Amino acid sequence: MFDTKNFAETYAQSKENHPFRTEMERYSILSWLGTVEGKRVLDLACGTGNYSRMFCRLGASEVTGVDSSREMINSALSHTPDIMPVAYHTQPAEDYVNDIPYDLVFHAYLLNCASSPEKLNELCRVLYRHLAVGGQMLGIMGMLGHYPSGSKNPSGCYTAYQGELSEGDGYTIFFPGQQEAVNHYWRRSTCHSALVEAGFSDIRWYLPSDNRSHQMPVDDWIELEENPVFIGVSATR
Ligand SMILES: C[S@@+](CC[C@H](N)C(=O)[O-])C[C@H]1O[C@@H](n2cnc3c(N)ncnc32)[C@H](O)[C@@H]1O
Repeated sequence: MFDTKNFAETYAQSKENHPFRTEMERYSILSWLGTVEGKRVLDLACGTGNYSRMFCRLGASEVTGVDSSREMINSALSHTPDIMPVAYHTQPAEDYVNDIPYDLVFHAYLLNCASSPEKLNELCRVLYRHLAVGGQMLGIMGMLGHYPSGSKNPSGCYTAYQGELSEGDGYTIFFPGQQEAVNHYWRRSTCHSALVEAGFSDIRWYLPSDNRSHQMPVDDWIELEENPVFIGVSATR
């Protein structure tokens, strides 16, 4: 699971090195982001802090990273220079309290961790609660549960599950380096309804793009474009 030192370090490295992460995941997120300069940013389920640090490099005035895994936060701390204006908190996103709303509320692969419809609704309410009026909510949601069990794909991650997945079902993701974690299968429409119910407006979904760098064969990029392993979502309040 996420809460081992080995997982955290392997994950942190792959976020900076794997072409899928740098040339598609980060590339797409950057294309969907509004201006970050001078903004207060909340990164919920920040993991090893790769995106929290990216927001600092983009000029955020203040970044808060929250993650329930101590090992992920320890890794985030070890990779974050003191000069960066980031504060990390080890706690479930649901328990994070801050009365000053954020200009950008970001989440990458948080909604996939919701193990029930109630939890999915709660997480969407948490995203909404922390967003300033006129701010941007931006997230990405994993789609690996839409891939057949056991099938390899160029992202370097693959899934295992029995039979057909239904709403909320758990499935195992195998990451590079033999690390694994459980995610949950949610359709986009279910997440959309949960975001509407939480109060969000102008909810938009995005398909990833990439710059087809030479770090992977072009066929691999095409495969990832045709069968996205994540999708983006943004909304306002
Ligand atoms: C696949 S990792 C993504 C990390 C990071 N967002 C990224 O993209 O690099 C999912 C993270 O969600 C965290 N997580 C899962 N459920 C959570 C919750 N309810 N509150 C806070 N963090 C959570 C896990 O500990 C893990 O670090």
